[in-house]
Amino acid sequence: MKERLNELKQIALGELEAAIGSQRLSELRVKYLGKKGPLTEILRGMGTLSAEERPLIGQVANEVRQVIEEVLDAKQAELKREETNKRLESETIDVTLTGRHASIGAVHPLTQTIQEIEDIFVGMGYTVEEGPEVEQDYYNFEALNLPKDHPARDMQDSFYVTEEMLLRTHTSPVQVRTMERRKGEVPVKIICPGKVYRRDEDDATHSHQFMQVEGLVIDKGIRMSDLKGTLLQFAREMFGGDVNIRLRPSFFPFTEPSAEVDISCMMCGGSGCRTCKGSGWIEILGSGMVHPNVLRAGGYDPEVYSGFAFGMGPERIAMLKYGVDDIRHFYTNDLRFLGQFNRI
Ligand code: PHE
Repeated sequence: MKERLNELKQIALGELEAAIGSQRLSELRVKYLGKKGPLTEILRGMGTLSAEERPLIGQVANEVRQVIEEVLDAKQAELKREETNKRLESETIDVTLTGRHASIGAVHPLTQTIQEIEDIFVGMGYTVEEGPEVEQDYYNFEALNLPKDHPARDMQDSFYVTEEMLLRTHTSPVQVRTMERRKGEVPVKIICPGKVYRRDEDDATHSHQFMQVEGLVIDKGIRMSDLKGTLLQFAREMFGGDVNIRLRPSFFPFTEPSAEVDISCMMCGGSGCRTCKGSGWIEILGSGMVHPNVLRAGGYDPEVYSGFAFGMGPERIAMLKYGVDDIRHFYTNDLRFLGQFNRI
């Protein structure tokens, strides 16, 4: 039995010597030290031994077990060391390598422009309102002094969803919605940026979906000069301190009087160039004094209150400011275009 034990030891040590990898080591641990291993088997057979032999064989068996265990443990420790070293080596960071470029997204130029417009008006005490893009005919037209069959409805070709619902053709419906919400309180000083929709053929200057920023001020004693002063201030903050504006008579059913507002061309300073088509002026928005019918529709007595309103196109403003020649650039999302507006 002693021989069998020694033989077992030799075989086990030989196999351990040749073992590679931690999986093989665990296999060998089970094979020699496990419940079904040869050592256990020998120890189980001890009962048949004589009383003198038993402690002797027991000692040898324990020694064999210990040796195998020690070698196993040593091998395992070495393996672990090797693995750690390998990992350390492969994870070493070469701090002299150039960094990988992480490209960061940019705020869309239109969003930047709208934020800039918002900042300017918030600086003048305005708050920012929102309204639905799918709008009732009532708010989009009727409450804005455009009854059904009014010829001026043709000014804005519309996408109707049902008889009474359409994609808003401008942000002006938010005027009436805001007045309703304010329930006659003054002052009302709001702007409303948002998407609008018109049945236009897309080309360099038209898009079936574009943005507007609406403005509305209502209080006692609001006059045309307030409108002009406000828009001059806006134009100078947006385009630079030496810009001027002029008002041209125009027509909108929801304002009376109405005016188209031009800014002096910031390309040529007013002497005439390609951008302003030689006139020295560029149209940037529509505006006017809120029509009494609109004030009434919003619950404000036109005998007591007056107001002005305006609507501008952020695309047009961004095109002028950044020299963009095609409105479709804002919507086709070519990264070569958008990347130029990354200010980070
Ligand atoms: N809603 C008008 C448009 O889309 C612009 C406008 C707004 C004009 C407010 C006057 C007052 O053309």
